[in-house]
Amino acid sequence: MDFCCHRWTLLAASLACLTLFGSLLTMWPSLRKMSQRPALQVINNITNTTVLVWYWPFASSSSVGGNVCSEMFGIPNCILVDDRSSFSQADFVVFHNRGLINGQQRLPVHLTRPQKQRWVWTSLESPAHNGNLKPFAGHFNCTMSYRLNADITIPYGMLVPQDFGTGLTVEDFIPKDKSSLACWVVSNYDPHHKRTEVYNKLKTIIPVDVYGGAVNKRLNDKTLRSTISRCYFYLSFENSISTDYITEKFWYNAFMIGAVPVVLGPPREQYEAVAPKDSFIHVDDFRSIEELGEFLRKLAKDKQRYASYFNWRLKYTAKRLADWRERFCRICPKVSSFQTQKVYDDLDAWERK
Ligand SMILES: *[C@@H]1O[C@H](CO)[C@@H](O)[C@H](O)[C@H]1NC(C)=O
Ligand SMILES: *[C@@H]1O[C@H](CO)[C@@H](O)[C@H](O)[C@H]1NC(C)=O
Ligand SMILES: *[C@@H]1O[C@H](CO)[C@@H](O)[C@H](O)[C@H]1NC(C)=O
Repeated sequence: MDFCCHRWTLLAASLACLTLFGSLLTMWPSLRKMSQRPALQVINNITNTTVLVWYWPFASSSSVGGNVCSEMFGIPNCILVDDRSSFSQADFVVFHNRGLINGQQRLPVHLTRPQKQRWVWTSLESPAHNGNLKPFAGHFNCTMSYRLNADITIPYGMLVPQDFGTGLTVEDFIPKDKSSLACWVVSNYDPHHKRTEVYNKLKTIIPVDVYGGAVNKRLNDKTLRSTISRCYFYLSFENSISTDYITEKFWYNAFMIGAVPVVLGPPREQYEAVAPKDSFIHVDDFRSIEELGEFLRKLAKDKQRYASYFNWRLKYTAKRLADWRERFCRICPKVSSFQTQKVYDDLDAWERK
C-alpha cells in the first residue's frame, strides 16, 4: 500500500513537472523578457540522482566531467561521479564484479551507509565467469547486467526504432561485396566449448573463414568491419550458453556490420525477445549441422530470400551499448521502479534463476 501510493505520488509529481516544463518552454521568449529567476529556480528543483562509480570496470576510467548523462546520453537529472568523497551524497554506489572477485577491490563495509543509498552489483559476464558470489551476500540492493531480470538491464546492444522515410529498400542495407559464405572471429578457442564442436562439424560441410587471436589473425576495428561485411553469415557463437547471454558478436559483428547472424547461445525465444524472429538463424533450428550447412549454402544463392533477413533494417538501427558511463547513467531512469527496500541475500541463486 505504502509502495503503491508512493509511486502514484511520484508519478503525479513528475507529470506536474513535465507539464510545467512544457509550458515554460512555450512561454520561454516572454519569460526571458521578464525576470528569469523564478522560472529557473523551479526547473532546477527537480531532484538529481547521484551515481558513484566506486572504481572503473577493468580500470578503464572515463571522464565524468560536465553533465555526462544528460549531454552525452540524453538522460536528465543524473549525476555520475567517481570520487569516493561523494559517498555520503550518493544515491547509488556501483561495484563491478570483476574487481571484487579478483581481490583488487573491496566493498567499503566500514563506512556508514546513508539510509537511502543503494549498492549496485554489476557484471556483463555469464555466470560461468562471475566467480564465487557467496561473500557478497546481503550487501547489494540492485543488480545490473545483461539479464532481463536484473534491476537495471544493460544489454550488449539493442534495436532502436528509426524512421528512414521512404525510398529505401532492404538492398540498400546489405553490404555489396559479399564473397565469403560464413565467418567466425574467435579469441578464446576452447575444445570443450559447444561452439568448437559445432564449428568443427560445420567446416566439413561449408567453408568457414576464421579470424581472431585463436588463429593468429587478429582484426582491428577497421579490418573487422571490412572483413565481416564481406561474409554472408557471421557465426555468432557465445562462449557460454546462459539465459539472455547475447553479446556484441550478435549486435555489432553481425547486425551492425551487416552479416546475417547464425547464433549459438540461449534458446531462440530469448533472441526473439530482443530481435525480430526472421533476422537471424539459430543453430537449434536444424536437426543436424549438415542441415544447417546446406541451408546456409542455398540461402546465400537465393538473393531475395537472403535479403529478407535484413527486413528489420527498414524499421530499426542496431546500437551497441559499449560505454560504461552510459550503462551507469541508465540507473537513474529506473529509480522510481525500485522497491523501497531490497537486499540480495543470495546473488548466486539470482544468477541461476
Ligand atoms: C541537478 O544537477 C544540475 C547539473 O549539475 C544542476 O545544475 C542542478 O542545480 C541540480 N539540481 C538540484 C535540484 O540539485
Ligand atoms: C524545491 O524542493 C524542495 C525539496 O526538494 C521543496 O521543499 C521546495 O518546496 C521546492 N521548491 C519549489 C519552488 O518547488
Ligand atoms: C540496502 O542494503 C542494506 C544491506 O546491506 C540495507 O541495510 C538497506 O536497507 C538497503 N537499502 C535499500 C534502499 O534497499
